[in-house]
Amino acid sequence: MSDKHHKAGHSVRDAFTSNLGMLAATLGSAVGLGNIWKFPSMTGTNGGASFLFVYLACTVVVGLPVMISEIMLGRTVKANAITTLRKLSPKGQPWGIVGISGVVAAFLILCFYTEVAGWVFAYIFKGISGSILTTDPTIASAAFADLISDPVQSIGWQWFVIIFVSIIITFGISKGIEKVTIKLMPILFLLLLVICGRSLTLPGAEKGLEFLFAPDFSKISGSVILMAMGLAFFKLSIGMGTMMTYGSYFKNSQNIPLTATRVVLADLLISLLAGIAIFPAVFAYGFDVSAGPSLLFITIPAVFASMPMGHLFAVLFFVLTAVAATGAMLSLFEVPVAYLCEARQMSRKAATLTTALLIMLLGAPAALSSSLTKDVKVFGMNFFDLFDFLSSNLCMPAGGLLICIFTGWVFGKDRFKAELSNHGLIKNEKVVDVLFFLIKYVSPLLVAIVMMNMLKVF
Ligand code: PFF
Repeated sequence: MSDKHHKAGHSVRDAFTSNLGMLAATLGSAVGLGNIWKFPSMTGTNGGASFLFVYLACTVVVGLPVMISEIMLGRTVKANAITTLRKLSPKGQPWGIVGISGVVAAFLILCFYTEVAGWVFAYIFKGISGSILTTDPTIASAAFADLISDPVQSIGWQWFVIIFVSIIITFGISKGIEKVTIKLMPILFLLLLVICGRSLTLPGAEKGLEFLFAPDFSKISGSVILMAMGLAFFKLSIGMGTMMTYGSYFKNSQNIPLTATRVVLADLLISLLAGIAIFPAVFAYGFDVSAGPSLLFITIPAVFASMPMGHLFAVLFFVLTAVAATGAMLSLFEVPVAYLCEARQMSRKAATLTTALLIMLLGAPAALSSSLTKDVKVFGMNFFDLFDFLSSNLCMPAGGLLICIFTGWVFGKDRFKAELSNHGLIKNEKVVDVLFFLIKYVSPLLVAIVMMNMLKVF
């Protein structure tokens, strides 16, 4: 990678390593259960290719510009999200509220994310015993239902995950874990390729590809667009200040639009691979494509069951998925922990403990959504779906909308251009012009329309 602006003698390699490190850390937050579990499940329940198409559009038109803006704002002030917004706000304007909504979103996400991560950990052990490796849809669904309808297992695995992540955070070894995550990510990528290979050679695989890639635009509705937009926010960890915090660690020489574009592309690639791994197998074995959250847990074991050394691969797959989920959870935990440390003057240990206890408490109703609390519905949803809905479809888009308005109308074009061109060092004027147009007019308008539609304003 050449960097024209590095003078001779300046350690180009140093800069490269560090830029790569930032890329890796950002990717570590973005890639997680969203790619491997949520993307296939939502694509399955929302009509396949047409949903994928809308999701791609949301990612490019809204996701990427918001991500770039967040990273840029964070790098400009070099502080956490709330401080960043407060410092950049004109006197008397309460932009810090975006940070607060981010803390709420992080809690809501953690309440169900830790549960799904718990299922992944459980499947590592079930993979070792071989009990989940079956191509029979009835047995596969029953094995998964056994797990989620047992309150002790549901809560137990969730607590296991919460304690596991809290230990990593308290001992301050997150950086070490991030390094491990990044090293393991290519293995996850390769393993996904292997699963895709197997899945694509199953009889009837083309039906799965058709479902994923041949759009039927009549299936697009207001709710499909809302879901796709929510997924775009969730996937890129944006609209809640996480990327602002990451941006605060970015070097001044880093090319933000380029790094963000790479993160978005790599993230999309992993989601697509997960889709190609899952959907052909769904059709080949006659699973229910709209199975929702259980899709990953019933389909992937079936692919492994029909593969040489499938047993070993299954365990490896769930271990790597658990690692990716842990990377994302570390960045999620960081949001409330950093807030409690900085705004409430707590020690890191006390902040982590408080966060962990709150998630255990608030997460329990979500974990028990298929057992003890299954009949409790709020706005027609169980707690698991409610937390998911409120974070992805309300808090994050609302946060994203405010970030767009802040960047476009308060921060302003001149500073936007200066920051993203690294004060003229990168010649990217045209790209930045387009980005600014998107962030000032297009992205906020789209998010506002989709949200008003959801709130039944029209
Ligand atoms: N982007 C993560 C995933 O797709 O699994 C989830 C996530 C992590 C969302 C961090 C928000 C966040 F702040």
